[in-house]
Amino acid sequence: MKTIVYQTKDLDNPDKIKSLKELLNDNKLVVFPTETVYGLGGNALNPVSAKAIYEAKGRPSDNPLIVHIARASDVFLYAKDISSDALNLMAHFWPGPITFILNKTEVIPKETTGGLDTVAIRMPNHPVALKLIEGAKLPIAAPSANISGRPSSTEFKHVYEDFDGRVDAVIDGGQSIIGLESTVIDVTAKPTILRPGAITKTMIETVLGYKVEDLSNTKPTEQVKSPGMKYTHYKPKGDVVLLQGNLIKALNYVKAQKDSNLKMAVICPNQYEHVFKDFRLRLIGNVNNSNEIARNIFTSLRDMDEWHIDKIYIYYNQTDEVSYAVMNRLLKASGYQVIDL
Ligand code: TXA
Ligand code: MG
Repeated sequence: MKTIVYQTKDLDNPDKIKSLKELLNDNKLVVFPTETVYGLGGNALNPVSAKAIYEAKGRPSDNPLIVHIARASDVFLYAKDISSDALNLMAHFWPGPITFILNKTEVIPKETTGGLDTVAIRMPNHPVALKLIEGAKLPIAAPSANISGRPSSTEFKHVYEDFDGRVDAVIDGGQSIIGLESTVIDVTAKPTILRPGAITKTMIETVLGYKVEDLSNTKPTEQVKSPGMKYTHYKPKGDVVLLQGNLIKALNYVKAQKDSNLKMAVICPNQYEHVFKDFRLRLIGNVNNSNEIARNIFTSLRDMDEWHIDKIYIYYNQTDEVSYAVMNRLLKASGYQVIDL
């Protein structure tokens, strides 16, 4: 299959919009940028598209997709029994990096929701994504645009690497501004966070005026509420170990693991460059700027594959709620191999 690459400016060209609309209505796939990560998009209303998404991504078909809309009021077409608290949160945070789990209406096929009666819905805050959805006149089902198990894509080169020849079109939107997938919150009953993101628990609680539950760090072996929680995620090819706590102990730990048969690398915030200077290093941003680190984290994991690293040590400590969301991804990337020092 030949993959056509579109540029951001093409979304202002009626002929190109028409071509993209035709592709999506024909159940073909279009990879598009959002503010969080790139999405692997298809027609959310057609089971054929859902199947094509699972196939292109290599994802088990019980892991449901997020339905992306361009107008907040469209949520009423695809979901029912929406609570006033949920509507309040949507009014505050949409368009933006938060996805709501709601009871689905009949128009959403079970293939899109992995067989569930609930549906995940998000209105992204990205001009290209919004123009694509509006132009297609369809809700777009899209998981993160990565081959299942790999780190999510936050740059055009990642999606091109994973999907060239596997989808009909890719839209180059440059680097994703947020870099972590959206916060997922189940609002079918008492609001419960299933995945942390840039919209934090505190931000949600401030709007609602009460405490919400957070189940996002449930390990895969435990009872999971979101199917996405039980699969391997974000894994580079090399083995990942997450180091936390004392910096010098972390340095000594990594030194002790030196093995001439393995290619090793360290991922850490900029401030620790001098500490780990004897290792192959991938810096991820200012330790006091969790948003910068969030933006760089998936790219750093993908770089490990590009560099053919066998053993990856990540030194990172949780400092605030955005870094908590980063840590959630790192725990998964490491398969929960965490060493507290
Ligand atoms: O930022 C994002 O959310 C990106 C962009 C493209 O919008 N999308 C994304 O999709 O991260 P994906 O498929 O990689 O993650 C969706 C998560 C999965 O963990 C999935 O299990 C969960 O949302 N999810 C989807 N529908 C659900 C449902 N009905 N009930 C519970 N969890 C659901
Ligand atoms: Mg994903």
